[in-house]
Amino acid sequence: MNEKRQQITASAPGKLMLLGEHAVVYGRPCLVTAVGRWQATVAPAADDLLHVTAPDVGLLDCALPLTAPVGEMPAGARFIAAAVQEFRRQHGGHGGLRVSTSSHFSSRYGLGSSAAVTVAVLQALAAWHGVSLTPTELFDLGRRAVLAVQGVGSGFDVAAAVYGGTLYFAAGGPTIEPLAVGELPLVVGYSGVKADTATLVRGVAARRAAALQEIDRLFDQSAILVEAGRQALQAGDLATLGSLFDQAQELLVRLGVSTPRLEALIAAARGAGAWGAKLSGAGGGDCLIALVPAGRRQAVEAAIVTAGGEVVAVHPGEPGARVEDVLG
Ligand code: PMV
Repeated sequence: MNEKRQQITASAPGKLMLLGEHAVVYGRPCLVTAVGRWQATVAPAADDLLHVTAPDVGLLDCALPLTAPVGEMPAGARFIAAAVQEFRRQHGGHGGLRVSTSSHFSSRYGLGSSAAVTVAVLQALAAWHGVSLTPTELFDLGRRAVLAVQGVGSGFDVAAAVYGGTLYFAAGGPTIEPLAVGELPLVVGYSGVKADTATLVRGVAARRAAALQEIDRLFDQSAILVEAGRQALQAGDLATLGSLFDQAQELLVRLGVSTPRLEALIAAARGAGAWGAKLSGAGGGDCLIALVPAGRRQAVEAAIVTAGGEVVAVHPGEPGARVEDVLG
């Protein structure tokens, strides 16, 4: 650690999947927009331990051996520990660390807090050590750290955390293409059910093993919707993008990852005048997204609440990872 500095804070955004979830795990592209912000503050500790304070997940100065396998750590500390371990493996560094994280957004919404925290910690460590990471290097480190904890995933959430904005993303390579898009009038509704992404991804893998051609056809259709979505986004054609949301939701129902609760909220949003609506992310719970004409926002939000959902205020297209503050 750089002895002159007392602490460094960096931040990174979370994400909302616009189109392409699940298919992106199998090499098809997706569209993702960055939302929310998570902060990570890194400071040296006098001992040799990793001290994690993450109030959102109930950790207050939780002290852990820095080199312990992440799977043996409390769930709320795993991504932080994996980020520190990955950074040190590549760039060196030793001694105890204090890491604290914060956000205005609850991690229960499934808006990508894990990847955002991972990338924010990496960005803060890099700044501390005076290591200037390219976005590609930051993405690679973040992707390895997230995989060390989660075991599965395309990395689209890490890309959103690093680059921000709205991205066309495909895992092979990877392809990460920032899209020039205007304001995205999204309404986000939380279903009240916290979903476990890894379990849902494994469920799709099992279904695919049993019906390979059928599931791969769904993924190919998803890729077509993503290409059309990219064009609609770039043309500012929100009505078409909304209808692509509806078509994507049908694919996700056939993939078996939607739920009656999500479908009730989606129907409510459509009934109140949304251009289109779909679940966003792995499914099983978490959030739906609806694309809404300016005059319908309030009606769509009210309909989601009446149907039992919670509206989450977000600003799509948040900027990517950055250093916020250097103390000392
Ligand atoms: O559940 P979320 O919001 O983390 O999204 C998961 C999206 C998947 O495509 C199902 C998995 C992935 O890593 O791409």
